[in-house]
Amino acid sequence: MRFATLISGRGSNMQALLEACAEPGHPAKPAIVISNKADAAGLEIARAHGVPTKVISHKDFPSRHDFEAALHQAIVESGAEMICLAGFMRLLEADFVDRWRDRILNIHPSLLPAYRGLHTHQRVLEDGVRFSGCTVHFVRPEMDAGPIVFQACVPVREGDTEDSLGARVLAWEHKLYPLALRLMAEGKLRVEGKVVHIDAPLALQDGLMNPCPERN
Ligand code: GAR
Repeated sequence: MRFATLISGRGSNMQALLEACAEPGHPAKPAIVISNKADAAGLEIARAHGVPTKVISHKDFPSRHDFEAALHQAIVESGAEMICLAGFMRLLEADFVDRWRDRILNIHPSLLPAYRGLHTHQRVLEDGVRFSGCTVHFVRPEMDAGPIVFQACVPVREGDTEDSLGARVLAWEHKLYPLALRLMAEGKLRVEGKVVHIDAPLALQDGLMNPCPERN
């Protein structure tokens, strides 16, 4: 399955996807990386992986609708059958999302539906919650919403900063997103209403507590 990746910046999740796809026999193949920002560092990483890149700046279009029409055309021309949003910081309108219904994945650095939007780690620290994490989900027109494929949970530790918590979450983002893409490319993700069914054997883990009483 050929996929387009949309980025706006650093591109570390995109890199994790491209590296996974480079493994022999991987069922997904990168068709194009598109950034809405010309200076996105991820563009260079994509080129180094030999993946075609394109910059489509939202600033060059009179409306969101026209910007998304250009995105759609570039994605179709690349031959991509699905889209991975990887730090793409533009909201997508219902028109675009519905055209690609159940064929757009996103990664978000929180345990959705908590902490949609920006500055997730800062808000998590301010609220004093004990766990945070990341979510891979199918995209719906509402921001950071849609059927959830995977979540990973990390503890918030005493003394954490946005950077230390962000790094702990990001390490899991880089594991979850390639796994979700592989299952998607293998046709093993089924969306029913708000729920994603995964047609693959996956292990369950027991509950977690944080902080935990000292063990004897
Ligand atoms: C990632 O943490 C991703 O989860 C987040 O932006 C970062 C992009 O980093 N996405 C969102 O907040 C989407 N709402 P990257 O460019 O290194 O992948």
